[in-house]
Amino acid sequence: MRYLVINFYHSGKITFYPLRPLPALMGIIEDELSSTSVFKDLQPLDFDYVPADLPHRDDQLRRLTQLFKPLLSGMPQNAVIRGPVGTGKTAMAKFFCHSLTSIARQQGRHIEYVHINCRKRSTDSLILIAILTHFDPRFPDRGFSVQEMQQILRTNLQRRGAQLLLVLDEVDALLKKSGPNLVYSLTRFSDEVQKTENPVSLILISQHDVLGKLDEATLSTFRRNLLLCEKYSRDALRDIVHQRVDLAFHPHTIREDSLDLIADIASEWGDARFAIEILWKAGVAADEHRSPQVVPEHVRAAKAETYSVVTETKLKNLEKHQLLTLLAIAKRLQKDGSAYAITGEVEKTYAITCEEYHEEPRAHTTFWTYLKEIELAGFITLKPSGKGQLGSTQLISLPDIPAEALREKLESLLAPPS
Ligand SMILES: Nc1ncnc2c1ncn2[C@@H]1O[C@H](COP(=O)(O)OP(=O)(O)OP(=O)(O)O)[C@@H](O)[C@H]1O
Ligand SMILES: [Mg+2]
Repeated sequence: MRYLVINFYHSGKITFYPLRPLPALMGIIEDELSSTSVFKDLQPLDFDYVPADLPHRDDQLRRLTQLFKPLLSGMPQNAVIRGPVGTGKTAMAKFFCHSLTSIARQQGRHIEYVHINCRKRSTDSLILIAILTHFDPRFPDRGFSVQEMQQILRTNLQRRGAQLLLVLDEVDALLKKSGPNLVYSLTRFSDEVQKTENPVSLILISQHDVLGKLDEATLSTFRRNLLLCEKYSRDALRDIVHQRVDLAFHPHTIREDSLDLIADIASEWGDARFAIEILWKAGVAADEHRSPQVVPEHVRAAKAETYSVVTETKLKNLEKHQLLTLLAIAKRLQKDGSAYAITGEVEKTYAITCEEYHEEPRAHTTFWTYLKEIELAGFITLKPSGKGQLGSTQLISLPDIPAEALREKLESLLAPPS
């Protein structure tokens, strides 16, 4: 018998664990390590990875460049990028801003680019701290008011002779939580005393129409400069996936019909993130089966695992009470084991679920608004109930995911009830 010796230095004890013969265990590890993979580099499949080319976004990039060209002469600009989930808004903004700042540098202009996700930082103060930390990584995360931080930013930019190109990504989260004040003051950031140009240019990104949340004066600049990113077509998704195959997979490890199938599946939503997610999971499935190639069966397995409509990124776009409503639906369907949940029952479960999460249940009409919204987002389908039910009762079903899987996802997303 061989032993694995674990030495606990901190406790001074030495413990012996009897194990299976080491050669057998080592064999498993060596076997796995030496097995070949369809992947040559996983990084290009990371969601934050921005490729050196963005197929099917030429028109938007051209328009962005036209809009922001004046920055190279020191004139600020503002724009809004809008479009559904996974349509390349973030990737395009990053690609464009990096390119513009480097071209500006070559021309002797100093543009500082800062990209902030407002879902992660949804107050004026948190956003200003992030901007100032970009200039000084040791900038304290408390102790300054919003006004003071704006003044520090102004001084910082003046001292460096720099302009700021600020991207507020998922800006709806900021507008909803903190209102339009910060956007308003950044569009009027010029120095009153020195009468200089405003050194701040803004790109607002959102899936939703955020213009209505801005004040009239701010609105006019943004309204003229609105860029739309439409859902990708099937062929566009195929090109996007193809690009990732070249970057991330060994040659000839993915069959053409597998690519076709990924494009077909993802085209229902026009979402490039979803397409790339399936590609990655199909590659993992091929490796697990020790297959030298990704075949359509691996794509189907990846699709089944991804649960299309209910990807985590999409769930993260729902608000807390929409998540709680969806959780109530999943619980009901799981408990009853039936195809449909009845709205009245779900509303009761919603109230109990709210209690578990220490939340005040919203009123009946608001609950109905949540139902309509999560139906619109594609998570559920609603249909009028048959005979024997009250007039307004509707039947709720989950078209695309087992209730248990949805419940697990939601419970891990919502902070655990204490
Ligand atoms: N035209 C494209 N070419 C190559 N990759 C793309 C393209 N469009 C999007 N992608 C990739 O798809 C994924 C999703 O894109 P991105 O994050 O930019 O979407 P988004 O519109 O910001 O979505 P959300 O609204 O959910 O934030 C990223 O991995 C991105 O690199
Ligand atoms: Mg984005």
